[in-house]
Amino acid sequence: GASLKDAFNGDFYIGTALDVNQIEEKDPKVTQFISKEFNAITAENIMKSMFVHPQKDKFDFETTDKYVAFGKKHNMFIHGHTLIWHSQLPKWFSEIKDSAEMNAAFENHITTIVKKYKGQINSWDVVNEAVNDDGSLRKSVFLKTLGEDFIAKAFQLAAAADPKVDLYYNDYSMTNPAKREGVIRMVKKIQEKGVKIDGIGMQGHWHLDRPTIQEIEKSILAYSNLGVKVAITELDVSALPSPFGLQGAEVSQRFENNEKMNPYPKSLPDSIQVKLAQRYEDIFKLFLKHKDKISRVTFWGVNDTQSWLNDFPIRGRTDYPLLFDANLQPKKAYYQVLSLKQKT
Ligand code: G3I
Repeated sequence: GASLKDAFNGDFYIGTALDVNQIEEKDPKVTQFISKEFNAITAENIMKSMFVHPQKDKFDFETTDKYVAFGKKHNMFIHGHTLIWHSQLPKWFSEIKDSAEMNAAFENHITTIVKKYKGQINSWDVVNEAVNDDGSLRKSVFLKTLGEDFIAKAFQLAAAADPKVDLYYNDYSMTNPAKREGVIRMVKKIQEKGVKIDGIGMQGHWHLDRPTIQEIEKSILAYSNLGVKVAITELDVSALPSPFGLQGAEVSQRFENNEKMNPYPKSLPDSIQVKLAQRYEDIFKLFLKHKDKISRVTFWGVNDTQSWLNDFPIRGRTDYPLLFDANLQPKKAYYQVLSLKQKT
C-alpha cells in the first residue's frame, strides 16, 4: 500500500528518529514498518556525547555501528545527531574548566566521530541548540571555555574530518523572531569566516495552534536565503494543551508543587484527532510549497508511544503527537498528509 516515503519521493526525504530498541531490531515487524514508511533516520539518543564518548579517552561505537548498519541495509539517508550539544554530556566533558583542555577534547571528539563515519553518515548536526530564545548565545561549557568561536570551530573541524558530509546547525523555536535573527547572525559569522555550513535544521516541536503557518514559512525563507538547505529535523505536534496553561520552567515548578492542572485526555478524542490531522495537512502543504528549499522532513519518533512528549513538560502524561498510534496504526493525520499527494 501507500507509504510516506513513496508519497514524498522526489520532494524531500521522510525521516524518523530511532531509539535503541529499534536500532537493535528487537522486533522484526517494527523494522519492516520503519523501512516501509521512512527513507531517512536520526539517532534519538545514542550518538550524543554521553553515550558515544563516555570517558575522555574512550569512545563507544557499538550501538552507533548498528545504527549506521541499519541505515545502509535499508538504503536510507543517515543523519548524525549530534556532535556539540550542552545537554546529555558525559561528566568529564561538562566539567572541563581550562580552555586548552577543552580545545583538545573538543577537537578529539569531533574529529574522531566524523572520521569514523566518513562517507557513511550523510549529514551531521554539528552544533545543537546554541542560541537562546532572545537570540543571544546560550551559556554552555563550550561558550564558557572557548568563547563564541566554538561554533565556527566545530564546523571547521567537522568539514576537515569529512569534506563531503553535509553540516547542519540544529535548534528549536526557530520560528521565534528574536531567535531567528540570532541564528541568522550566527550563521553569517560562520560563513564570513569562510567555514562550510550546508544546512539549518528547524526541529519542529510544534503545537496545534502555534507557531502559525506564516511564521514557519517566514523562517524557511529566511534560513534558505542564507544559501543553505533547510531541514525539518524533529517534527511532532503536541495534541495536548499546555499544563496549567503555561510553558517552560514554570510548568515543572507547579507540577512538583502538586498544583491542580487542566485535565488531559486518557485517549485521543475525535475532536482533537480532526484538529491534529488538519494541522499536519497545513504543515505539509507548506513544506510542499517550498520543497525546493527543504532537504528532509524527520519525525521525532515512529509512533506515539516512542515520543519524548510523554514525559514533557511533565512526567507520565500521554501525548499523541505523531502520525502512527500506539499500535503502529496510521491516524487520521497520516491519511490527510498522504492525500496532499494524491490530489496533485
Ligand atoms: O540513559 C538513561 C538510562 O541509563 C536510564 O536507565 C533511563 C531511565 O529513564 O534514562 C536514560 O536517559 C534518558 C535518555 O533520554 C536516554 O534514553 C533520559 O532519562 C531522558 O530524559 C532522555 O530524553 C531524551 C532527551 O532528548 C534528552 O534531552 C529524549 O529521549 C530525546 O527524544 C530528546 O531529544 C531532543 C533532541 O536530542 C534535541 N532536541 C530536543 C529533543 C527533545 O527534547
